[in-house]
Amino acid sequence: MQNAPCGVTAIYPGSFDPITNGHLDLIERGSKLFGKLIVAVLHNDAKGAPLFSLEERGEMLREVVRPFPNVEVGSFHGLLVDFAAKNQATAILRGIRAISDYEYELQMALMNRRLRPDIETVFLMAAESYSFISSRIVKEVISLGGSIAGLVPPSVAVRLRDRLLQGTK
Ligand code: PNS
Repeated sequence: MQNAPCGVTAIYPGSFDPITNGHLDLIERGSKLFGKLIVAVLHNDAKGAPLFSLEERGEMLREVVRPFPNVEVGSFHGLLVDFAAKNQATAILRGIRAISDYEYELQMALMNRRLRPDIETVFLMAAESYSFISSRIVKEVISLGGSIAGLVPPSVAVRLRDRLLQGTK
């Protein structure tokens, strides 16, 4: 029997440009660990202009988190820990795919702890079947004509094709 989730609210932050099946796997597993999970889309990423607008990224997320009643979608700008505190969240959920993620994640987790020591970062290892996926690589493969079957939710694949392959056929 599955245990009832604890009363902790957690934030799962990211750019989600767009959501991949790796993100979705983490959302599903996180929804079982926490009482409430808020998937929070970053407004302005330092990585540059996103492929999808904030609204589009939020829509895609809302479509795919429907099966999880304790998962909400929000967005934030400014400091992640301030968004977490505003939402009474005491945990930040992040996924680690490979050792190469570790350094960046450690730096963020330690900075977030310094800013708000009462908020813990919780890491889950990505499922091995998704450990090579990133939004960036999915966009690259589809724009070069490769298959992304099984890497993103079907509704996201449709939007990616519309956005990146328009006028190429
Ligand atoms: O999925 P990503 O793009 O790796 O997510 C990065 C994210 C959104 C978690 C990170 O850029 C972030 O938290 N940005 C908000 C700004 C902030 O709080 N910075 C200080 C802590 S590093």
